[in-house]
Amino acid sequence: MTTLDLFGSPAEGEREWLGSQAVVLRGQAAPCAVELLDAVEAIVAQSPFRQMVTPGGLTIAVASTNCGALGWTSDRRGYRYDGIDPLCGRPWPAMPGCFMHLAQQAAADAGFLGFEPDACLINQYLPGTKLSLHQDKNERDFNAPIVSVSLGMTAVFLFGGHDRGERAFRISLHHGDVAVWGGVDRLRYHGVMALADAPHAQLGNRRINLTIRKAG
Ligand code: SIN
Ligand code: FE2
Repeated sequence: MTTLDLFGSPAEGEREWLGSQAVVLRGQAAPCAVELLDAVEAIVAQSPFRQMVTPGGLTIAVASTNCGALGWTSDRRGYRYDGIDPLCGRPWPAMPGCFMHLAQQAAADAGFLGFEPDACLINQYLPGTKLSLHQDKNERDFNAPIVSVSLGMTAVFLFGGHDRGERAFRISLHHGDVAVWGGVDRLRYHGVMALADAPHAQLGNRRINLTIRKAG
């Protein structure tokens, strides 16, 4: 494994390339973090965080909800995108304008023009929560990038190759960082190491990650 940020927190505005079409935009979401978190609070009031179950019957450690026309869900029947929140039987809350604006700007900065996201998976991590290496491949169109926004506690993101066993970069993602991967890097394995118990000034012992996608 390779650790890119050996020398502490990188400066806001820095760009760290993890591949020819994968980049971390340091602090890109910092100016709108309060607006993003207020929007998450409103979303969660309608479609609460819940722990989903894998098709194999395991409970996923990360708690999730969604906004946008489509939301990612998992249950005994499989992984899929659905327009309806199965927990409350209503459409997912609409994608807030600040999510759209940030995602389109970050995608453009990473070289992906014309990104039109229709889905945002919102994940909540607590100390000890991890996300195993996986590929994002339930979306219809792999031409569109994934835009991932980190808020709250710092996490160590794993960014691997096209095979699960390939060596993975380890890169710390801090509050306000935005990672974008698409094109030749779109199907690379990625995950999150178990979070340390290091509370964040605004969010306490939580990390919230937004992954904004074009699913349909
Ligand atoms: C994901 O892969 O869906 C989430 C990545 C992250 O939490 O940084
Ligand atoms: Fe993912």
